[in-house]
Amino acid sequence: MIYSRIAGTGSYLPEKVLTNDDLVAMGVDTSDEWIRERTGIEQRHVAAEGELTSDLAEKAARKAIEAAGIEAEEIDFVILGTTSSDVVFPSTACKVQAKLGCPGGPALDVNAACTSFMYALSIADQYVRSGASKCALVMGAETLTRMLDWNDRTTCVLFGDGAGAVILKPSEEPGILSTHMHADGNYTDLLHTSVGVSSGFKENEPRAGVKVAMKGNEVFKMAVKTLGQTVVETLEANQMRQSDIDWLVPHQANYRIIAATAKKLKMDMDQVIVTVNQHGNTSAASVPLALDHGVRSGKIQRGQTMLLEAFGGGFTWASAMIRY
Ligand code: ACO
Repeated sequence: MIYSRIAGTGSYLPEKVLTNDDLVAMGVDTSDEWIRERTGIEQRHVAAEGELTSDLAEKAARKAIEAAGIEAEEIDFVILGTTSSDVVFPSTACKVQAKLGCPGGPALDVNAACTSFMYALSIADQYVRSGASKCALVMGAETLTRMLDWNDRTTCVLFGDGAGAVILKPSEEPGILSTHMHADGNYTDLLHTSVGVSSGFKENEPRAGVKVAMKGNEVFKMAVKTLGQTVVETLEANQMRQSDIDWLVPHQANYRIIAATAKKLKMDMDQVIVTVNQHGNTSAASVPLALDHGVRSGKIQRGQTMLLEAFGGGFTWASAMIRY
């Protein structure tokens, strides 16, 4: 049996850091205490003027390529989860493919909001296991701060920019054990953006009015409930018990949501990779950022089992059980 296995991970955060106190200094009606207590976020990174989602993704990809010990030319499949593509087309994945110098194979973007990386990982897993790809680059990258309304304290304190990447290769040793993707499109009013190309778009003012709108409290409850069900589904699919999991690598939206999922799994918080304090919710980038942090900090070791999960706009949600 052929599995897809993570050969290397990488991530990148833009240089500019905006702390909670910086937001207060900018005039946002909030406080460091409120943001920390309700979300666990201490700071977020913001892409520089002219720094694009593809630039962030390329930097994360280069680190993953180096960690995997491969040459960029070996990559035959490029998939990028994002909700903040550089332009409508070509896809940001095509731009990254060109920057890395690995043309020829398919390159595509996936948009499942904060769940985008998990969807991309699941698709790439199918390609590698079927033999269609021998070396896949899977990324999540966002410049979400570009569409924040800095006058809306209910959303602008939550998000940040960043990118993460993994290289997947075929292996006879177990790697990705299972992936589980879901969506329910009946909840768009709870979490959406106000403008797209076919609605609300103004010529020469494409960003005017693009705002993240969220009923945070309702999204919070749905996220906790749904992620709780997801981890049960993932354990059952693999005939595993909670105690079989070494690490939880969750979507980094809110510390309280992460803690609730860990409780469901009866896991101590020291078995959970938490990075939300350092970069806020980076949407599609958050799971691969946390994964790379877990690997590079020496916490996640080869042979260990980890459960990845995410929840986001759509609603979309997904999980993966992985032997690293
Ligand atoms: N600073 C200070 N006060 C604030 C702020 C702020 N930044 N934001 C809201 N408040 C106030 C509210 O106005 C409200 O005041 P009131 O009681 O006088 O009316 C009070 O704080 C409580 O507001 P709630 O919305 O009930 O606060 P809650 O505890 O739910 O926390 C939060 C809000 C952090 C947004 C939380 O609901 C959350 O994390 N939700 C889920 C986010 C998420 O996971 N999104 C999914 C992924 S995003 C994607 O897919 C793109």
